[in-house]
Amino acid sequence: MAYLRWRRFIELASLDRPRVGEFFMRHRDKPIVPAPVEKWDREYREGVYDRLARSDQRHHHRLLAAMIADRWPQPRVLEIGAGEGVLFEALRAHAPARYVGVDFSAPAVDKGLARLTAEREAGVVDLRLGDGRDFRTDETFDVVVFSECIEHLGEVEDLVAHYAPNLRPDGAVGLTMWLALKPLRLWHRLKTLGQVVDEAVVNTPWGGGWLVAVVRPLRAAATKAMLLVATLACVAPTDAFAAPSLDLPLSIDLARAAIDACAAKGLPASASVVDDTGNPLVVLRAPASPKPPIAAPRKAATAVKFDAPGSEMEPREKADPDFAARIAAEPDRLNPHGGSLPLHIDGKLVGGLAVADVSHEAADACARAALARFSDRVK
Ligand SMILES: C[S@@+](CC[C@H](N)C(=O)[O-])C[C@H]1O[C@@H](n2cnc3c(N)ncnc32)[C@H](O)[C@@H]1O
Repeated sequence: MAYLRWRRFIELASLDRPRVGEFFMRHRDKPIVPAPVEKWDREYREGVYDRLARSDQRHHHRLLAAMIADRWPQPRVLEIGAGEGVLFEALRAHAPARYVGVDFSAPAVDKGLARLTAEREAGVVDLRLGDGRDFRTDETFDVVVFSECIEHLGEVEDLVAHYAPNLRPDGAVGLTMWLALKPLRLWHRLKTLGQVVDEAVVNTPWGGGWLVAVVRPLRAAATKAMLLVATLACVAPTDAFAAPSLDLPLSIDLARAAIDACAAKGLPASASVVDDTGNPLVVLRAPASPKPPIAAPRKAATAVKFDAPGSEMEPREKADPDFAARIAAEPDRLNPHGGSLPLHIDGKLVGGLAVADVSHEAADACARAALARFSDRVK
């Protein structure tokens, strides 16, 4: 037990510190090899996975089901690698509108079909035989779940992009994974594909542990583009050993949230996120915005340079001649008007967000609304 506790300690430490995991990982160069379908078939026939229906083996299912129902009442869920569809037992209490489970093991699907006959007849449940790496359906869902199987389904990035068309707007990926250092590499990669909306660890008295999470991916196309840019720019995944910095997915989300906040008021705006040197990471412009998006990156760079919001710098420019002179010295780079905010992670200045081409008051409100949406990650 002492060893298990030590292992759990390392696993927990590596959740946000991949290097800790890499350091303690055994056989770190050996890839995870997905088991062939014949092995799954045999083990389902032999009843090896009957234990997955036991209450003490389903804490992760119940937590994930509650996380999902909390954000999507009466959710529509697609589960890939669903086995016998045991996750449905946890969803049942939340009255899901739809549950489709897909597995490539026929004995598993057959067992699930037999157990969930009434729910299938009611049109709520469907269990299908298919390979989760390339399964296709026209149905859309609030959440696509990979529970205890993501390591068998190929590259995480391809998987998320493949199922992106099946997600409703605002939909997300649900994950449970056995807590172990090597599979956590996949979690680190999944995290970079979007916004983590829930993350928790279930720790059982018998020594088991699961990571349970919900991640809202960027739209598939943006994900691919982001990955390309991230690769070219060597944007590193979250790593607590590195100084905190803005990553590209969060920057895109912030700029987009700012545009959306203004659009909700009928205001077509521009928005930009810059890094801690004032260089733009993202510039977005609502199609109906009348101007080229020049002001937003300048406003964001000014918020970084003075580590202050535009709502404070704008009156200061009028009252403080020295400050006004510093702004005037760099007219092509600085703009102190309202609508900008400096961004901090762990108390460190990491960049700036700004909205422009609407009134300064509206720009300020949109930027603050966008920041509030991600206040668990950036201040
Ligand atoms: C450990 S079981 C988890 C079952 C279920 N998701 C749960 O949480 O109880 C892993 C499942 O993944 C399925 N699986 C593995 N590779 C798959 C693939 N390529 N396509 C579909 N299912 C797959 C296996 O057949 C098995 O049912």
